[in-house]
Amino acid sequence: MTDQTLAAIILAAGKGTRMHSDRPKVLHRLANRPMVLHVTAALADLDPARIVIVVGKGMEEVTAAVAPHPTVVQEPQLGTGHAVLAARDALVDFAEPGNDVVIVFGDTPLITADSLQAMLAARRAEAAPALVLLGFRPADPAGYGRIEQDGEGRPTAIVEHKDASEEQRRIGLCNGGMMLADGGVLFRLLQEVGNDNAKGEYYLTDLAALAHAEGLAAAVVEVSEEEVMGVNSRAELAVAEAVMQTRLRGQAMAAGVTLVDPTTVWLSADTRFGRDVTVYPNVFFGPGVSVGDGAEIRSFCHLEGAEIGAGALVGPFARLRPGAALGPDVHVGNFVEIKNAVLEEGAKANHLAYIGDASVGAKSNVGAGVITCNYDGFAKHRTEIGAGTFIGTNASLVAPVTIGAGAFVGAGSTITQDVPADAFAVARGGQETREGGGARYRERKLAARQEGKPRDETESEPRDDMGGETRKSGTGGD
Ligand code: UD1
Ligand code: MG
Repeated sequence: MTDQTLAAIILAAGKGTRMHSDRPKVLHRLANRPMVLHVTAALADLDPARIVIVVGKGMEEVTAAVAPHPTVVQEPQLGTGHAVLAARDALVDFAEPGNDVVIVFGDTPLITADSLQAMLAARRAEAAPALVLLGFRPADPAGYGRIEQDGEGRPTAIVEHKDASEEQRRIGLCNGGMMLADGGVLFRLLQEVGNDNAKGEYYLTDLAALAHAEGLAAAVVEVSEEEVMGVNSRAELAVAEAVMQTRLRGQAMAAGVTLVDPTTVWLSADTRFGRDVTVYPNVFFGPGVSVGDGAEIRSFCHLEGAEIGAGALVGPFARLRPGAALGPDVHVGNFVEIKNAVLEEGAKANHLAYIGDASVGAKSNVGAGVITCNYDGFAKHRTEIGAGTFIGTNASLVAPVTIGAGAFVGAGSTITQDVPADAFAVARGGQETREGGGARYRERKLAARQEGKPRDETESEPRDDMGGETRKSGTGGD
């Protein structure tokens, strides 16, 4: 049930200059999902009644990405305390004592739901601290705010690195930046925060000392350095991506997926697996892929927007593009590309095929080199293939076209007209065989070589005037 007394603020107004990007920083992706949406996903576990995102001017793309969550614009950007105040109007109903407001950062996408839950549990514990901080102990604390504690470990103040004395800089417990506070206390104390500090900013962190001065209790929840890692550059984005991938692989394996060589499998945040799926080395899961129970994904597949049924075999070297829907026990083999096409139960396309804008009925067999010619240079058209068909090697199916259930299409055919159910269609040039023609051709070539004739005269195709028997075969048959 939605927690009616809990609201969340995501700070995301920073320009992200060090990304050197036209895209707002928080829209850069980890596991194919914008960073800020990893944060909303972690928050969703707490089921807050409202999530407000603080953005900078001109960040309409962020507003669109986080919808239906509302955004507020902070302009100019005068610090984290100032940013939280920008969200006040959107959260007036939470600015009363007894409500909780959790503040997180849009560029800190590795924060977990578990840690946010731990903060909420600390706030709702018997001591009911007005303020819960997120602490961590980095190998190198330079740059971070330091959390000062009293003799019993309760936080009394946060001092920003730039404002800290030598002695304060020796404190190992750093501020992760995120915070959970009583809504009434938060918005009241923020009005008292000034900007008389090294950066000339309104620091959210000043709340710790202000609360302490009023005799309000505070607590700190400690997390790993990884969780509070901020992303400010492409290099940091890559580090965060590696952490995210490790987590996603771990989750998949914990849920019963065999990753034969986990570090070579790249997952999207929304990749879904059934039980007993096996993924071989070097597979890329783009957005929107689901894999049913017991399916096998062999090496070197590139998958996106695809639904893979239970027991299906995919790859090696298969490409599934958006709208690919493979039913149970479908086989898709090497160098097969499937786009916007449904393959029903037990259908097979094992080698070198393109199936686009199509449906393939149950147990149909699509031969090597089959192409659905779905595009005429202007528009896309559909190919409908019924159940139990056999589409011969290297057939081109020129859409729009329908192949009825149980029909056979001869190898090498270019099919431009519908084929009724149970028919046998073949459409290709008839075969011409000249008895002895090969031998005559060879002799003529060898003779020409001995006479030293130039290459271009000897390289011509076998000529019609070679004489001899010519046998024409029919155009295939059933
Ligand atoms: C902050 C903390 C510091 C902590 C560190 C952890 C403060 C004053 N300091 O510092 O104690 O150790 O995080 O990483 O809070 N933002 C806005 N509007 C602003 C300023 C910032 O939306 O006016 C956003 C940024 O986009 C970012 C977040 O707030 O997502 C944090 O701001 P940042 O400048 O990174 O703070 P730090 O200097 O890292
Ligand atoms: Mg930062």
